[in-house]
Amino acid sequence: MRIDTPAGSILCDPWVNPAYFASWFPFPDNSQLDWETLGDCDYLYVSHLHRDHFDAAHLKRFVSKKATVLLPEYPTSQLEDELRELGFTRFFKTVSDEVHELDGGLKIMIQALTSPTDGPIGDSSLWVEHDGIRVLNQNDARPTDLSTFAALGHVHAHMLQFSGAIWYPMVYELPSVAKTAFGKQKRERQFDRTFRYIDDLNASWVFPIAGPPCFLDDQLWHLNDIFGDEGNIFPDQSEFISEYAKVGKTNGVVLLPGSVATIGQTDCATTHPTDVGAFFAQKENHLKAYAERQRIVIEREKASWSHPEIDVLAGMKAQIEPLLEESVYLAKGVGGPVRFDLTDPDGVVVESIVVDFPGKEVRIYDDEKVRYRFQTERRLIEHLLHIGEGDWVNSLFLSCRFTAARIGQYNEFVYAFFKCLSEERLQYAEGWYESQRPDAEDITIGGWTFQRRCAHLKADLTRFGIVEGNQLTCQLHGWKWDLASGRCLTAVGHELRSAAAEARPDA
Ligand code: FES
Repeated sequence: MRIDTPAGSILCDPWVNPAYFASWFPFPDNSQLDWETLGDCDYLYVSHLHRDHFDAAHLKRFVSKKATVLLPEYPTSQLEDELRELGFTRFFKTVSDEVHELDGGLKIMIQALTSPTDGPIGDSSLWVEHDGIRVLNQNDARPTDLSTFAALGHVHAHMLQFSGAIWYPMVYELPSVAKTAFGKQKRERQFDRTFRYIDDLNASWVFPIAGPPCFLDDQLWHLNDIFGDEGNIFPDQSEFISEYAKVGKTNGVVLLPGSVATIGQTDCATTHPTDVGAFFAQKENHLKAYAERQRIVIEREKASWSHPEIDVLAGMKAQIEPLLEESVYLAKGVGGPVRFDLTDPDGVVVESIVVDFPGKEVRIYDDEKVRYRFQTERRLIEHLLHIGEGDWVNSLFLSCRFTAARIGQYNEFVYAFFKCLSEERLQYAEGWYESQRPDAEDITIGGWTFQRRCAHLKADLTRFGIVEGNQLTCQLHGWKWDLASGRCLTAVGHELRSAAAEARPDA
């Protein structure tokens, strides 16, 4: 989406190329748009690093490097780093929940969500105001409520996700009746959640955006919502409008690639490249033709996954065992072994590997009971190891190119762990879970008692903290604190709770 105002244009999450092992494609096909012109924007907003929002190849090729990036306030610099790598040099670093005034009276606010369960550790929404007209691009972010935005005045245009963007329940090995029932529940929950957000904000017009993706590979074709399956979690925009009508609402506006909506105080005039109703009536044909055009792209991608020379067990051991060793909350949260059955492209299991969370090791499966079992092609894991992927949710799991079975309830820690396959991400997630406890723990080192988790990105200071005199250095990023005052010597803010140990008889 591009938000044009007299004070400048903001291009938001331009996504064109397939994401997640060539499984997700934008729907409808937007590749024919004039991206040279659309990419010539004043500002770029990338809400988060999920690959259906952060399309590196497209950003690199089509988006002006003169654009100023409106950066959400995330705890790690990964989004900024990846954008810099693509050639962007101008960054406007926002403070979460704070209104910033840009040139020409353009006002923006970005709300950054930062729990380990938000996106790839971070998701955000963009609020924009110009000349009394306000829009909220909530995107696929899930804040607890929208009161922070509502407090800034009546919103005229509310854009938000309404469809599914997950692998549940389709990949689960369940009887088809159960799968349909779970899918139906999920589909209803998605609509309910969307309607709740819409009611919260009470905007003049509502735009269903940020999904659904479509699936053009033959192997995933069944995931498209074209078979009248009430358990399909990927309803499209026209489905949204009919469900929305059932709750008595008529202010929903569907946009196609190339549609333009002009928002005023009391009106919203929309033009479309083609008749919207006719387009959705022809959805299956659109998808078939789209799949034909993309066949070569999918084949090319598939050909790049195999790295048979990689020893997957050794690679997983090297990447995952040190993290298991450091993990307290996530490992405890998973609480049991997780098994990966790796197959050849024909689906025959060739290797079975267990990530043993209690035992803190990665090893060959030993015929034991496991908490979760995943089955996927070996070449996908080869590829993840080959590229050093630190987030298997933002690659393998979202691809839906796996099946799963589990004992017991959904366990958020399993997926939180597999999105934290790097030291920095793991430490952040561990610290986040720790900070949720009311009595965050203190430790004593070198005569000082201070909080266990680093005030920067929550590294465990029993492992990363070095005390010299009255100075603490956290070795994860080298930040320093004065322990007498708790003041951070490296950056503004980030105060540390600390005191001399002898002043604390209980220390
Ligand atoms: S986590 Fe960055 S310096 Fe401690």
